[in-house]
Amino acid sequence: MKSKGILTGIISNLIIIETEDKVLQNEICFVRHGNESLLAEVIRISGKNKYAQVFENTRGLKVGSQVDFTGELLEVTLGPGMLSKIYDGLQNDLYKMEGLLLNRGQYNKPFDPEQLWEFRPLVKAGDIVKAGDWIGEVTEKWLKHKIMVPFYYENLDATVTSIVKEGMYQEKDAVAVITDSEGNNYSITMKFKWPVKKPVRIYQKKVRPYKIMETGVRVIDIFNPMVEGGTGFIPGPFGCGKTVLQHAISKYADADLILVVACGERANEVVELFTEFPELDDPRTGRKLMERTIIICNTSNMPVASREASVYTGMSMAEYYRSMGLKVLVLADSTSRWAQALREMSNRMEELPGPDAYPMDLSAIVANYYSRAGHVVLNNGKTGSITFIGTVSPAGGNLKEPVTEATKKVAQAFYALSQQRADSKRYPAIDSISSYSKYLEYNEIKNFLNHTYEKSWTEKVQKLRNILNHGKEIRDQINILGDDGVPLDYHQIFWKSELIDFTLLQQDSFDDIDASTPIERQKYMLNLILNVVVINFKFDNFEIIADYFKKIIDMVKQMNYSEFKGSNFLNFQNDLNKLIMENQPDEAKSLTENLY
Ligand SMILES: Nc1ncnc2c1ncn2[C@@H]1O[C@H](COP(=O)(O)OP(=O)(O)O)[C@@H](O)[C@H]1O
Ligand SMILES: [Mg+2]
Repeated sequence: MKSKGILTGIISNLIIIETEDKVLQNEICFVRHGNESLLAEVIRISGKNKYAQVFENTRGLKVGSQVDFTGELLEVTLGPGMLSKIYDGLQNDLYKMEGLLLNRGQYNKPFDPEQLWEFRPLVKAGDIVKAGDWIGEVTEKWLKHKIMVPFYYENLDATVTSIVKEGMYQEKDAVAVITDSEGNNYSITMKFKWPVKKPVRIYQKKVRPYKIMETGVRVIDIFNPMVEGGTGFIPGPFGCGKTVLQHAISKYADADLILVVACGERANEVVELFTEFPELDDPRTGRKLMERTIIICNTSNMPVASREASVYTGMSMAEYYRSMGLKVLVLADSTSRWAQALREMSNRMEELPGPDAYPMDLSAIVANYYSRAGHVVLNNGKTGSITFIGTVSPAGGNLKEPVTEATKKVAQAFYALSQQRADSKRYPAIDSISSYSKYLEYNEIKNFLNHTYEKSWTEKVQKLRNILNHGKEIRDQINILGDDGVPLDYHQIFWKSELIDFTLLQQDSFDDIDASTPIERQKYMLNLILNVVVINFKFDNFEIIADYFKKIIDMVKQMNYSEFKGSNFLNFQNDLNKLIMENQPDEAKSLTENLY
C-alpha cells in the first residue's frame, strides 16, 4: 500500500503534508490539484508532518488536497537514447515541447519507447555478473552504449541465465535474465532507474588524477590545468564571462561526453544554448558537437526545486556514462543558483540558518556533490572519469561568501574571474595570479606535463608566471612613481608581461580560430613567446619600449587569429622575426628555434 496524506500548508513551493503513513526521506509524491498532479519531493520528516518541495508552480493549490506518495526517490532513467537530448531536471525531453516550457503537471517521457536498438550481447549464459557489468551493447550514434546490470543490484552476485541473440529490441524487451544464489530471477531491459542523490559507487577504486584534460583555453591548459577526473570552479561577478568560458570549454574539451547543466540562469542564455549548440561542429571528430553533448536545463523562471533536481540528474547521468568507461565532463552554471534554492527551502522550513542564511550543512552538501567526480577503475579493469567544473556567482564578487568558501574547500582548481580584467575586456577574465590548480603539485601531473607535453614544460611555465607576477608589481610601482620613477629594465619586464597576457592569457571566444587552441599549437606559442621574453632588448626610453612591444603583441595576436602554420600565420611570424632582428640581430636567429 502506497502512503497517502493531506495537504495542510503551502509556503510558496514548500508544502506540508499530514500523514500517519510511513514516508521516506526524499520520497517522491504527487499533489492532486483538479486534473493535474504536481510532483514533489519530501525534504523533511517531522512526526506526522512531512515537508516537501514542489517542482512546479503551486499557484491555486488548496489545503485539504490529497497527496499520493510513490515509495520511490527522485530518480533518473538511464539507457540508450539520451545523447544530444535537452532535458529539464526531471528528465522531461524539452525538444518535444513548444516554447521550451512544460505546462504545469505535464511530464514528458525521456525516451522514445518505440525506438529499436541493435543489441549485441557481451556475456553468455553461465557468466557471473555484478551490478554495473556490461552485458551487451547497442550502437547509439558514435557510441557503443553499454547495457549494464542495473546499479541497484549492488549487493547481488548473479549468474546469467539467458541472454538474447544479437538483434533489434525495444526498451520494454528483456534482453537478459540473471539469477542470484538463492535462485531468484531478475529480468534486465536496456534501461533502469537510479535515485539521483545517491552517488554511484560501482567501481574498484578511485585513482589519483594522472592525466591532463585539455580544454583548449590557453590560460587554463598552460597555467592552471584541469585533469581527467578533477574538479574546478569558476567564481566571478555577473557579466565577467563565466558562461562564455564554460561554453568555450564545452566546445573543445577533450572529453567523450559533455553534460551541460544550465541551472537557474536567464532563459535567453538557455535559448542561445539550444539554438547555437546543435549547429556547431566538433573540431576533434568532425561530427556535430551536439552528438557528444547532453543539456540539462532549468532556467531562473522555473521553480527553485527543479534546480536541485537538475544538478543531481546531470551528475547521475555522468556516473552512468563513466561506468561505460567514458571520459565525461560536467559543466554546471551556476551552482550558486542551486545553493540559493537550498537556502530558500531551508528558510521556508524555518531551519536554524548558517552564514548568510544558507543551510548549516551547505559545505557538506557541496562537498558530497563534488566528491562524485573522479577517475575510477571499473570492476572490469577499464577506467572512466568525471571531470566537474562549476561556476559560482558570488553577490558583488565577494569571494568570502558561503557558496564560494564551501566550494573552495573541495574544488582543486580555482579559476577566479576578475571584474577589473572583464572591465578592460581582457577575456577570459581569469586572474592568473590568484587562480590556481592544485593538480600542479601532484607528481603524477608534473611527470605527465614534463614527459607527455615537453621536457621542462613546468619550468617554462614557471618562467612565464614569474614575468607575469613581476609585471604586476612593476605596474603598481609605475602607478605610484610614474613612468620615469622606475628603471628602463622594469618597463621592458612590464611589457613582456603584457605580451604574455595579450597573447597567451587572452583568447577571443567569438573567433572561429582563436576560440580554442589545440595543445600542439599551445606548445608552439608558448615556446615562441618564451623565445621573445628571454631576449634582452636595448631601448633608449620607455616610450620606444611601449611602441615596440605593441607591435610584437599585434603580430602574435594576428598569428592567434590565423590558421596554424598557414601562410598568414607564417607571414606574421616572419614580420615578427624582422622586427626582432632590428633590435637584436643575434638573438632573432633563435626566435624560431625549438618550435615545431
Ligand atoms: N572570452 C571572451 N571573449 C570575448 N568576449 C567575452 C569573453 N568572455 C566574456 N565575454 C563578454 O562578456 C559578456 C558576459 O559574459 P557571460 O559569460 O555572460 O558572463 P557571466 O556568465 O559571468 O555573467 C559576454 O556577453 C561577452 O560580451
Ligand atoms: Mg552566466
